Amino acid sequence: MSVRSLLASVAAIGLLALSVPVYAETDALTATGKWSVPERKQARTPPMGWNSWNAFRTEVDEAKVLGAARVLVDSGLSKLGYTYVNIDDGWWLKRRQSDGRLEIRTAIFPSAKVKGKDSSFRPYADKLHGMGLKAGIYTDIGRNACSQAYDLHSPNLPEGTTAEREVGLYGHVDQDIGLYFKEWGFDYIKVDACGINVYAPGSPLVREHAYTPVPPLIDQAAISRTDIPAVRGMYDKVASALATANPDGDYVLSICNWGTADVRTWGKQTGHMWRTSGDITPTWTRMLHNFDSASTRALYAKPGAWNDPDILFIGHGDFDANHLTEARSHFALWAILNAPLLISYDLRQAPQSLMDIWGNAGIVAVNQDKGGHQGVIAYASDDVQIIVKTLSTGRKAVALFNRGLAKTDITLTAAHLKFSGTAPVQLKNLWDQSATPFTGETTFSVEPRQVLIFEASGERLLTDGVYLSEIPGDVNVAADGVVSPEPDPVVHRMRNSWGQTRGSGERPAYTGWGGAQADATPYDQALRIGGQGFDTGIGIQSDSRLEVRNSAGYTRFETLVGVDDSTRNTKDRVRFYVYGDGQLLTRSEPVAFGDAPRPLKADITGRLIVEVVARTESRSSDRPLVVTWAEAALRK
Ligand code: GLA
Repeated sequence: MSVRSLLASVAAIGLLALSVPVYAETDALTATGKWSVPERKQARTPPMGWNSWNAFRTEVDEAKVLGAARVLVDSGLSKLGYTYVNIDDGWWLKRRQSDGRLEIRTAIFPSAKVKGKDSSFRPYADKLHGMGLKAGIYTDIGRNACSQAYDLHSPNLPEGTTAEREVGLYGHVDQDIGLYFKEWGFDYIKVDACGINVYAPGSPLVREHAYTPVPPLIDQAAISRTDIPAVRGMYDKVASALATANPDGDYVLSICNWGTADVRTWGKQTGHMWRTSGDITPTWTRMLHNFDSASTRALYAKPGAWNDPDILFIGHGDFDANHLTEARSHFALWAILNAPLLISYDLRQAPQSLMDIWGNAGIVAVNQDKGGHQGVIAYASDDVQIIVKTLSTGRKAVALFNRGLAKTDITLTAAHLKFSGTAPVQLKNLWDQSATPFTGETTFSVEPRQVLIFEASGERLLTDGVYLSEIPGDVNVAADGVVSPEPDPVVHRMRNSWGQTRGSGERPAYTGWGGAQADATPYDQALRIGGQGFDTGIGIQSDSRLEVRNSAGYTRFETLVGVDDSTRNTKDRVRFYVYGDGQLLTRSEPVAFGDAPRPLKADITGRLIVEVVARTESRSSDRPLVVTWAEAALRK
């Protein structure tokens, strides 16, 4: 039966007459007709502002923070969107034992000393609010924080008995969140995870500093030794305390568990942003590492929920005022990835050359575009990458990235932009505003470590619609088919700046390998069905479900489906289903490895949520079954 006659018979006999297998309600593959990511009020675009950590570590104080705040306002950066002013580790003195209340180190935050009363950040937060800014604070999900393990010479470590030094959220979630948000008036919280990572029973750290031992829930080197549900459960508790303390929804939760515990898949349900890697350092190769941990995750980020490759390190080390190429590249890459843009530099002494980087309005606009579509890798290699981001104006932003050590030519084609190859394309360089019109393709000579970033306009390849891989912000990976989370091997393995070259090298163990990808397979191959290659589409494993928002009122969903040639499971067959607002619209016959791509079309007129599901028909192999939704598009 052709798709058209199948649809006709659906219309004639009603949906129930189709012999669709019935699945339990709890099945993650059951179409719900809903967009399941919480519709958050804040962080509709990536949060922007300033953070104390990379600038001052624990040697933060009120003058430094307010000095930064003043510069944000006076320089106009706050008008560009840099509004969150976030204190990181180092602000606390102790947890009072009579009632568990946290005390502030008023020696470094003098305004927190309120005569005859408990210390309070209220005057400080009020001051920031009075400047039109927002206030962020820092804590840890466990008993103790990171500085208590890694900054042992700091003058600003929590003081007192074992219990007094337990400044993290553990056992105090509601109390602390209430204090931070209701009493003190903060707007943003970063919740670190050292407390459930580095305070293992019997460790020298715990022994020497008399900390309460905590069996680690996170093992950064081993996913199978990380208790994913327990970690998620702890962050979920914080999320619900925040929702209770802030009924107006005016808060941001930044999850800082360094890409562990498969946060890639649940971060969007729990918080507004989640770290995708360990800490950035001011070195080029570490920046690559952090970038790579987020650059293949476009489908997991969307308005209200962002991949966070860490705060900016512009102004320091390889990104200082003597390395403006690197500094600009770091900024352009974070911008096109929809990473939060948090400056971390002593702004009171920032040279104009750095201010001009953070203050580049065109690049900030790329990051803050309201569509919320993270840039997607359009050309991949270890040396050169081309990253393309769809803007809500219908234009694109494109970054040409020379990761290597030699000057190189990078050819940008209209096809990379999903623009027509026969119509003129306009490129505006966002660093110097120069224009480069071209038709078909154009070539740039790009310096080592340079990123050229442009805004591009042209005639869309798909004149009557949009490919799903162009709009990751409107696609939610509700189930990605990953059964056992695996470390992502494509993250740049920098030479470790902490342990020098002792040991055998740090292997990044961030889960993500095998997750859904835009314009690539889950295992980073080019999309291919039955020998036919595709530049455009969604690569995912079978037993997966995607939710797609149809806010622009498209009337047709069209795609070509099949088992991807890269699959390791060449035995099992898959059936593809398309739903509109929870109702089955069409489905494919079961298809097998080697079959030609099958067209699948559905009338989505009036449907707000389109769901596409790939289901294995009686699975016999536990190898990953890779499928491709080639050229999947919403059309008029
Ligand atoms: C961890 C975090 C950093 C910073 C420090 C503070 O390392 O990942 O971003 O907050 O702790 O100690």
